[in-house]
Amino acid sequence: MKKYDLKLVEPNATHQVAMEKFKQDIIDEGLWLEGCGNFINEDFSTWLKNCDLQKCGKNLPSGMTKRTQYILLRVSDEKVIGTLEIRELDKQSIERNYGHVGYCVAIDERNKGYGRELLRLACEIFKKDGTQESIVIMTVDDNVASQKTVISNGGVYTGTVTDHNDASIKLHKYILKM
Ligand SMILES: CC(C)(COP(=O)(O)OP(=O)(O)OC[C@H]1O[C@@H](n2cnc3c(N)ncnc32)[C@H](O)[C@@H]1OP(=O)(O)O)[C@@H](O)C(=O)NCCC(=O)NCCS
Repeated sequence: MKKYDLKLVEPNATHQVAMEKFKQDIIDEGLWLEGCGNFINEDFSTWLKNCDLQKCGKNLPSGMTKRTQYILLRVSDEKVIGTLEIRELDKQSIERNYGHVGYCVAIDERNKGYGRELLRLACEIFKKDGTQESIVIMTVDDNVASQKTVISNGGVYTGTVTDHNDASIKLHKYILKM
């Protein structure tokens, strides 16, 4: 197995410059940020405050549940390689919250195996926690990269559902056993 020089950490003030670059690079490509709450619409310090609050279940946008924010750092240069959001969900809120995790890889680091490793590390967090027998991941039906990332981590496709916010969007649902 390939060895990666990566670690998942909770963000803090020292990550501001690297996180702002991560965000700007994705915006410059006209793409959407995933796996980092509402960072697209917030400045870094507001986002950081909200990460702390939302981890404790406070200041949550309507319908959103408690979430813990992580960033994937490359140890050698402290570059932000990806973002990961872990959502605390009950059965009723799984689809509404698009599953237990959201994630994103830096635009210039995609297709190098980092997404697969990011999800593997996310599963390690769930396994260590021990409270979930399985997790659900939802991807838009044409998001082949994410689907392959899930499948390469043992995800099993269980069907397609309609996005509760927009009936024209179809979502593939996967289950990963922990
Ligand atoms: C989805 C995402 C995290 C994948 O990260 P990545 O680092 O590019 O993925 P990897 O290099 O680890 O590749 C994982 C698999 O996806 C495939 N893949 C990667 N990019 C692809 C692309 N553009 N088209 C098709 N397949 C692709 C790889 O070949 C690999 O497949 P394999 O396991 O069969 O070999 C990344 O594309 C991303 O950040 N997308 C935008 C945000 C997003 O969609 N998040 C998920 C929301 S559910």
